Amino acid sequence: MAKLFKAISVSIVAPRSFAKRAGSPIIRPTMNAAWVMLFVAMLCVLLSSGCSTTPGPRSFPAPAALPPCAALPDPLVMLDGRRVSSPGQWYDQRRPELMALFQHYMYGTLPPKPAQMRARVVAEFDDFAGGKATLRLITLETGSNGAPQINLMLVLPNHRPGRVPVFLGLNFCGNQSLTDDPRVPLARGWLTSLCKGCSNNVVTEAARSAGAADWPGDEWPIADIVERGYGLATFCSCDIDSDRPDVSDGLYQWLAGGDPARNRPADRGTIAAWAWGFQCCVDYLETDPAVDPRHIAALGHSRNGKAALLAAAFDDRIALVVVHQAGCGGSAPSRGKTGEQLHDVNRSFPHWFNAEFKQFNDCPQRLPFDQNCLVALCAPRAVLFSNGQADQWANPAGQFDVLQAAAPVYRLLGVDGLAPQPMPAPGQLAGDHLGYYIRPGGHSMTPADWTMFMDFADRQWGKPAR
Ligand code: GCU
Repeated sequence: MAKLFKAISVSIVAPRSFAKRAGSPIIRPTMNAAWVMLFVAMLCVLLSSGCSTTPGPRSFPAPAALPPCAALPDPLVMLDGRRVSSPGQWYDQRRPELMALFQHYMYGTLPPKPAQMRARVVAEFDDFAGGKATLRLITLETGSNGAPQINLMLVLPNHRPGRVPVFLGLNFCGNQSLTDDPRVPLARGWLTSLCKGCSNNVVTEAARSAGAADWPGDEWPIADIVERGYGLATFCSCDIDSDRPDVSDGLYQWLAGGDPARNRPADRGTIAAWAWGFQCCVDYLETDPAVDPRHIAALGHSRNGKAALLAAAFDDRIALVVVHQAGCGGSAPSRGKTGEQLHDVNRSFPHWFNAEFKQFNDCPQRLPFDQNCLVALCAPRAVLFSNGQADQWANPAGQFDVLQAAAPVYRLLGVDGLAPQPMPAPGQLAGDHLGYYIRPGGHSMTPADWTMFMDFADRQWGKPAR
């Protein structure tokens, strides 16, 4: 029986320390991290005449002053050449350094955690998915005066002996695109007309009757997910920052307080904004009594996978991340020669990354990191890269190399990541904490892909109690 719940609201106040969110060293550097950054800045002044700006803890060499390196950089070698030889050195020095480097040269600074976020459970229905699940609709108010409002849709199996592990996925076209249940509100933000039922960049009621498919070829098999004992939480990128170069709305516009001088595209990246959205949702999920806060998996397909990986790299509350066909700027090497190249992604989607990243268009080899270092930031947590053989644009073979080149950090931290081995045959899940999977077919997210995502989570966490 459907029941409409009295709205319950919970205020989530940012802790004084950001200790649980791994992005904290950038915002509040630890003594060690601050000294390392200062050392790097001083080294930069000594080595490069082009680096004449006032040295500060966040200054790094200009891209042209960085030495080219054809291979994927070793995540265990610091920018000044020192080798990382202990877990303590990884956590205190190299990890904060890499987080600063990724923000400086690629993604832009991750937006700060909301000072106070209000979560309102606006409705709950226990007869969702043919009576097998409960649908909980939550609004996350991330601030006042036009701050993004994230509409989080949480689906929980009705039979749940304890707290449930949850997949937290970013969707392309709005929560209503995942189900034809009319009780799910339509997305309100700007959306591309590639989304079904979207007219003049606005979602209409036709989005529901269009069938439960987010984006061409993307499926979210809700009944299968709850049947296997998992919860699903999902939100739309359009609630945070619309997927277009226009900077007139969204998170950065709000952070700038409407002041165009402070809303500079140079310092911002939409992928980082979406990663921030993941982190706000985790802030809520940690407080939901039905959710197991130790078993939250972030998930995204393609551009959404780029954001999921960045979110997981910077937030150690995300215990597992599924990065499906994310490609360049996500799971594929920026130095890759197959499929989308760094200059392609920067030209087609200038708003995804900061201005500094465009300076590597003609020489990605100068990047002082590659995506293996982003994966390494997740260590020792679980990461799955999954791919389609026909989706060469996402460079599936290069993604396997990225995982292999992250594995030394997993070994340093005492867990098995991915043993040195050839790329697995289609249909086989390879690896341990670093999983890799490729199947026949192209760029899409299918129910069979979800079976593999859940198999991987089962392997890491054990099958959920049902
Ligand atoms: C384009 C883009 C990719 C991206 C993909 C998607 O193909 O070049 O980088 O991953 O869109 O998000 O579907």
